[in-house]
Amino acid sequence: MDDESVVETNPRDRDGVDPSAAFAEQANVSAADAAALEGEWPDCWARAGEMLDWSEPPETTFEAAGGDRRWFPGGELNASVDCVDRHLDDRKTQAAIKWIGKRGERRTYTYLDLYHEVNEFAAALRSLGIGEGDVVTLYMPAIPELPIAMLACARIGAPHNVVFAGFSAAALAERMERADSEYLVTCDGYYRRGNAIHQKNKADNACLSVPHEVTETVVVERLDDESVQLGEADRAYDDLLAAHRGAEVEPVPRAANDPLFLIYTSGTTGEPTEVRHTTGGYLAHATWTSHAVLDLEPADTYWCSADIGWITGHTYLVYGPLSLGTTTMLYEGTPDHPEKDRVWELIERNAVDVFYTAPTAIRAFMKWGAEHPDSHDLSSLRLLGSVGEPLNPSAWWWYYEHVGGGECPIVDTWWQTETGAILLSTLPGVDRMKPGSTGPPLPGIDVAVVGPNGEETTAAEGGRLAVTKPWPGMPLSLDGDDRADEWRYATEDIARIDDDGYVTVLGRIDDTVTVGNHRLGTTELERAIADVPGVAEAAIVDVRDGSDSSIFAFVSTDDSHEAERDLRERITDNVERSIGAFAVPETFVFTPELPKTRSGKLMRRLLKDIADDDELGDTSALRNPEIVGEIRSALDRE
Ligand code: WT7
Repeated sequence: MDDESVVETNPRDRDGVDPSAAFAEQANVSAADAAALEGEWPDCWARAGEMLDWSEPPETTFEAAGGDRRWFPGGELNASVDCVDRHLDDRKTQAAIKWIGKRGERRTYTYLDLYHEVNEFAAALRSLGIGEGDVVTLYMPAIPELPIAMLACARIGAPHNVVFAGFSAAALAERMERADSEYLVTCDGYYRRGNAIHQKNKADNACLSVPHEVTETVVVERLDDESVQLGEADRAYDDLLAAHRGAEVEPVPRAANDPLFLIYTSGTTGEPTEVRHTTGGYLAHATWTSHAVLDLEPADTYWCSADIGWITGHTYLVYGPLSLGTTTMLYEGTPDHPEKDRVWELIERNAVDVFYTAPTAIRAFMKWGAEHPDSHDLSSLRLLGSVGEPLNPSAWWWYYEHVGGGECPIVDTWWQTETGAILLSTLPGVDRMKPGSTGPPLPGIDVAVVGPNGEETTAAEGGRLAVTKPWPGMPLSLDGDDRADEWRYATEDIARIDDDGYVTVLGRIDDTVTVGNHRLGTTELERAIADVPGVAEAAIVDVRDGSDSSIFAFVSTDDSHEAERDLRERITDNVERSIGAFAVPETFVFTPELPKTRSGKLMRRLLKDIADDDELGDTSALRNPEIVGEIRSALDRE
């Protein structure tokens, strides 16, 4: 039985759509190729390893020894060679990175330019004393110096630790401290809505609170009309490059299982969790999926709209496309500035072939109106992608018709910070697409949906999505579950698998919400709110209203509380200070109490129903049922 309340199930969604013959004919993976990919696990993954250049070839594809699971053991490589050097013979003069700055600036780096700047910056990093294994924190917006710094770190074997530029000083300090990172590359500032944001001030504040004495800091000068005072441990990026003009740095051979980078993700506890991705397995998985799922080719101009600060930007803006020798676009601006057709204008002007974005963006485009994409020539597009949340069928169809002109397949790709690269997706030239469902596991990936006792289930209400075999992009020290003869990584996603093996993600088990395209722990946000004097408790819920999704904060106040407006201001300040402005909830609802069960447990589900304006479920378990009416009227006043 289909549960109508869980997913929209219209006949055209159930039947799905086949990729066009025109797409299938040129696809990197054809139906015949796909059959051959379904080989014996793990050997079938040798194909991904073969896409890389190794200075020392791996002894085998996969090895499980003791508790360790290792991909491509014995192999040695350097990611900067795969992403830069190996393209010099064939596409020295082809654009590697096309940057469109917030003030209309345009800068293009050919693969040769990229080679020079990566080498010069690698030499510069070395001159600061940075060596193999040292963690370098990168704290920059979408400017070319960020991917260049990532590749320069990779070249000298220094794992990078990219921290999203919108994070606050406190959040940066926490990530530097946990990573034990004494080196920082940042910028003086950047522009938001025409105003200069002083990134360097945030960086300085972070450096004051980390335990080590000096943080060697490199500062990219992004603000054109202001100069930021550099401190004693600060170096200007341009001066460093000038001092190392023409330098070439021998790429450091890294073992396949040496970390390429660290990235932090949010967990239920509210503590950022460190994920360490490997050099060989990660890069192989990133490269193979960019080829097979995103269908990228060197001749393509490709645009991934994610921020490099999140995993999507690492894998599918930087490593995957550059490893394949593609032109990757880096856009610093916002999608609605100067006009709401900005994205379509950029796709038209740059003749973008493949566009990869997130459901929240697609829903925003939808709200702004089809006239925007409809008024542009988007015929350069060949394939569309989505990642980050379930792509609801109405948004799917809108994307398909108004952006893809009914001809571009859509890949709804499921993966996570922890998986490193895509695990579930249709193969765009092969599989039928079913709107609302991500797709089957890729060849070589195995998943199951498991019930509360770990047993496999096909129940309509779904179960927990688990990955049942290791995959190349798996990080070091993944929290896997070892059973007698079976390994399993259980995610926090609730999902259902249909008869064709397609996975539909229904929700999450843990308390995380998606904010600005990033998974954030509700605990993290609730703590930042509850810390404010006058606040008793806070509950965060994620609400979807038609095409909109937004974060509601239900805040109970203590007796001493002042005017709501002041309290809201102080809460906003505190969220900005402890996490970053991007995490401030859209809607605040102040109430004397939160709804609690008799045993004192918060009824989050009820808050969700209130915010959704849904029928309330059973409220008989509530200790304070009268509060529901009060919360409703408080919400009405918003
Ligand atoms: C969580 C991972 C991987 C980059 C983006 C977010 C959700 C991701 C889909 C999809 C439904 C999806 C899951 C997952 N998610 N892709 N195609 N359909 N849900 O990375 O912040 O690590 O979050 O995003 O809940 O577990 P992340």
